[in-house]
Amino acid sequence: MTFRTTDVSYVEDVSPGRGALPPRARYAGSDARSLSLNGSWRFRLSATADAEDDSFAAEGYDAGDWAEVRVPGHWVLQGHGAPRYTNHLYPFPVDPPHVPTENPTGDHLRVFDLPGDWPAAGDATLRFDGVESCARVWLNGTELGEFKGSRLPHEFAVGRLLRPGGNVLAVRVHQWSAGSYLEDQDQWWLPGIFREVTLLHRPPGAVGDFFVHASYDHLTGEGTLRVDSEVAGRVTVPELGIDAATGEAVTAAVEPWTAETPRLYDGVLATGGERVPLRIGFRTVALEDGLIKVNGRAVLFRGVNRHEWHPDTGRALDVATMREDVLLMKRHNLNAVRTSHYPPHPAFLDLCDELGLWVVDECDLETHGFTEQDWRDNPVDDDRWRPALLDRAARMVERDKNHPSVIVWSLGNEAGTGRGLTAMAEWIRARDPGRLVHYEGDRECRDTDVYSRMYASHDEVERIGQGLDGGPRRRRELPFVLCEYGHAMGNGPGGLTEYQALFERYERLQGGFVWEWIDHGIRHPGFGYAYGGDFGEELHDGNFVCDGLLFPDRTPSPGLVEYKKVIEPVRFEGDGADGTVRVVNRYDFADLSALALEWSYQVDGETVQDGVLTMPQPAPGASADVKLPEPPAGAREGETRWTLRAVLAEDTAWAPKGHEVAWTQLPVGGRVKPVLTASARPVPAEGLVRLGPAAFDARTGALLRIGAVEVDAPRLDVWRATTDNDDGADWQTDLRHGPLWRTLGLHRMQHRRDAVEWDAEGLSVRTRVAPAAREIGLRTVYRWSADGDRLRLTVSVTPEGDWTVPLPRLGIRLGLTRADTVSWFGGGPGEAYPDSRAASRLGRWRSTVDALQTPYVRPQENGARADVRWVELGGLRIEGDPEFWFTARRWTSEHLDAARHLTDLTPGEGVWVNLDHAQHGLGSQSCGPGPLPRYVLRARPAEFTFVFSPAG
Ligand code: GAL
Repeated sequence: MTFRTTDVSYVEDVSPGRGALPPRARYAGSDARSLSLNGSWRFRLSATADAEDDSFAAEGYDAGDWAEVRVPGHWVLQGHGAPRYTNHLYPFPVDPPHVPTENPTGDHLRVFDLPGDWPAAGDATLRFDGVESCARVWLNGTELGEFKGSRLPHEFAVGRLLRPGGNVLAVRVHQWSAGSYLEDQDQWWLPGIFREVTLLHRPPGAVGDFFVHASYDHLTGEGTLRVDSEVAGRVTVPELGIDAATGEAVTAAVEPWTAETPRLYDGVLATGGERVPLRIGFRTVALEDGLIKVNGRAVLFRGVNRHEWHPDTGRALDVATMREDVLLMKRHNLNAVRTSHYPPHPAFLDLCDELGLWVVDECDLETHGFTEQDWRDNPVDDDRWRPALLDRAARMVERDKNHPSVIVWSLGNEAGTGRGLTAMAEWIRARDPGRLVHYEGDRECRDTDVYSRMYASHDEVERIGQGLDGGPRRRRELPFVLCEYGHAMGNGPGGLTEYQALFERYERLQGGFVWEWIDHGIRHPGFGYAYGGDFGEELHDGNFVCDGLLFPDRTPSPGLVEYKKVIEPVRFEGDGADGTVRVVNRYDFADLSALALEWSYQVDGETVQDGVLTMPQPAPGASADVKLPEPPAGAREGETRWTLRAVLAEDTAWAPKGHEVAWTQLPVGGRVKPVLTASARPVPAEGLVRLGPAAFDARTGALLRIGAVEVDAPRLDVWRATTDNDDGADWQTDLRHGPLWRTLGLHRMQHRRDAVEWDAEGLSVRTRVAPAAREIGLRTVYRWSADGDRLRLTVSVTPEGDWTVPLPRLGIRLGLTRADTVSWFGGGPGEAYPDSRAASRLGRWRSTVDALQTPYVRPQENGARADVRWVELGGLRIEGDPEFWFTARRWTSEHLDAARHLTDLTPGEGVWVNLDHAQHGLGSQSCGPGPLPRYVLRARPAEFTFVFSPAG
C-alpha cells in the first residue's frame, strides 16, 4: 500500500463522518470476548492537521522515537500543548465549518497482540467511547473511516482486518474540526482519546442492537417487559419467572424503579451467540396534567448539573471517580442529574440505575458562540448540518436507551433555535416515545415537553408557578424546571432556600438543577488549581470554570452542604417549647421506614441528653405528629433547644447506617445575653488610659491590650474580598455590587479621628469612616466600658450622605498576635452567609484558624460563622450582643482580595478577626440574580456590642 500526503478535508466536513457502524445499545458484562486497548500509546503531536502524511498508519512504521500518552486521556494534560478555557466564545474565528490552520493534531499508535485464544469465528468491532474532536482511524494499514461527536461512541467492523499476531491501530486526532462548532460547551477544550478504546469480539449470532421496554402500571402494580432485538433471542428474568422471546410482551407483579427506590431486576438477553446481562427497572414516564410524572406521580427534581471532571485527568474519569460522584450526590440528598452538556461515560448511567438518580441525558451539542453574531449561520438552523445533529441524537439515544434512570432526553444546551433541533426532537420521539424531551434554548417550547429556563429570578419563577407568565399556549401547558440555577461559583450560591420553597409551593414547578457539580480546576504546581488564563490563553474566561458545589478534589463546598439541607426529604415543623413536632415526608415515592429519628437536648450548645423516637410513617407528601419527650429534668439554666435528626436506620448502598439525612433545631429557652456593670473607671497614666483589664493609647484612643493579650485595635470594617457573586458577570444588566463598591472606594475607607474622651462611664472615640473623593461616610462612635476583668465595646454607626449601595459587611476588625485553636458557641460547623445559612447549626464548635478557611479556587471572602454568641481565640473570649458573624484568618481582607490563587495566600504574623454585626447576602450574580432584597445590607444606623475578657 502506498501512502500519499493526507487529504484533511474531512476535518472541515459538516458530515458526522464515514465508515462507522450504526449506533446501538451499550451494555456491559456480555460473555463475548473483549480486549481493552487502554494504556500507553505512542504519540506524536503536530501543529497542523496536514503536517504529517499517513505513513505512520502503515505496518512496520517505526515510532520508537515518539512520546507516549495514556489512553484514555487528553494529551494537553500530559505535557503536550496546553488546555484552553473559554465559556461561550469560540477560541477560533467563526467561519463555519472552517477551523484554524493551527490545529493541534495527535497521532496515536498502538500495537497489540490478539490473545491466543481469541475466537477465530465471528467478527470484531473496534469501539471508541470518546475522542475529542475528530478522529481518523486505520487498522493494519487499512483506513476504517473518520468521525466527529466527541462524547459519543463510534464503532467499526474490523474482524476481517485482525491478525493473530501483532496488529497496528493508528488514530489521528485533530483538536479542531467542523464538530468543534457543535461543541462549544462552557469548559476546557481538551483534545484526545479521553474514553476507552476496546476491541469486542462479535460471535456468530451475537446480540445486535436491542431496546428494553419496561413499564410500570401504578394502578395494578404490574410491570410489562418487552425487549426488541435486532437479533432474535430469549429474555429471562429468573426473579420474575420471565422467559420470553424477544419482541414478546410479558407482565409480572413488580416493584417499580424510582430514584428513591432503585429496584433493578437482573435478566439476560440470549441470542445464538451471546448472552448479555440486563438490569431492568420498571417505570413509566409521562407528561400528564401538565406535569412530569413517573409511575403516576409528579416528581420534584433536587438536581445538579454534572460535567465530567477530574483535576488531573480532565474528562477522562475512572469508575471509582464516577461512583464517588454518585455517592456524594446521594449523600447530599440530590435525586437528579442533568448530564450537562453531553452524554456522560456510560458507566455513570449504570451507577445512576443502581443507586438511584433521575437523569436528564443531554446531547453533545452547544453552539453558544453564535450568539455573538445574533445566531447568524447557527448550525442548528442550517440543513447542511442536519445529518450531524441527527447522528448525535441517535448516538446518544441508542447508546443510553436501556437505562431506567434516564427519563428525559435533552437536545443539547445553548444552541439557539432552529429546524435542526426540531428534526432531532422528532427523531427522538419516534424512536423512544417512552421518555420526555427537554431543551432550554427555545422560549416557545416548540420541541420540548417541559418549559425549562436557567437562572430565572425568584420572582419570575413564582409567576411561572402561578401560571401568570403568559407565553405561547404550548408553553403554558407545560411543567417548569430550572435546568440551571444557583450558580455555585466561589462563595455561594445564596437564595436556595427561597427557590426550594417556591418549588414546594407550586405544583407546576418541578424543581431544578444547581449549576454545577464540580469546579473544573486543573491541579497545578504553581497555582494549586489552575483556571482560565493560567496557560497563557489569548482568550479565556478566567475562573468562570470553577463554579461547582465540589472543590476540584471533590471536597464538598459549603454550597453543597447548604443545598443538602435545603432539599432534605424530611421536614420537621413545630415548636420546641410546645413539645409536638410535625414530621413531613417530602419524598415523592418512599416512606420513612429507612430512617431512624434521633433527638438530643442542648443547653448552651452542649448536649445534656439524647435518645431515639419512633419515626412516624407518613405517606409521601403527608405528615404525622410526634411527641417529644419531657425536657431533661435538672438541666442547668441557659439557652436550650431540641435537635432532631433523621438518620439511616441501616446501611444502604450509598451511605452507612447513622448517615444524617435531615435535621432541625427547635429552641426552647432563649439566649442569656452578656451583662456587664460598668464599675471600672478610666485611669490615665503615662500616655495610656487603663480601663478594667484593658489599656488604651491616650492620644488615639486605640485599644492596646486586654489583660496580657495584645491587640491591633478594633476598627469599623465594611470591606470584604469580593466574591464572584459580588463581582457579578459582566453581561449582567442588574447592578453589580462588587464593582460599585470599588468605584466608591469601600475597600479603602479612611478613619478620621474626631475625639477621644473619657469620663466616669468609660472611654469614647468618635470617628468618621469614609472613602476618599466621596461625601458618603459612616459616623462611628466606639464606647468602651469595663468591670474588673471584662471590657465592653459598643459601636454606633450612623450613615451620612446618600448611600445608594449596600455595605459588603458591617462590623469591626481587630488583630491578634497569635491564635491557633478557636472555639465558639454559635452556628457551625461550616461557614454561613445571610442567604446561605440553612445548614448552620447552633452548637459548641472547635476549629483551628487554618481550618476555618474555605479554599475557594479564586480566593475571596469566606469562612464566616453565623449566630455566634461567643468565641474564644488567641487568649480572648468575645461575647456579642446581639449575636454576630465571626471570621478569623492569617491574612487581611486586602491580601485575600488581591490573591488570584490559593498559593498567593501566605500567612502573616498575626491573625485578623472580623466580628460582624451584619453581612451582605451572596446571591448568584456570577451568572444569575443577585441577593434577594431582604439580604441586601442597607446602610442604616446600627449599634452592636462586644464584651472582651481573657479566655479560660
Ligand atoms: C449557562 C450554561 C452553562 C454555564 C453556565 C455558567 O448559561 O448553560 O454551560 O456556562 O451558564 O457557568
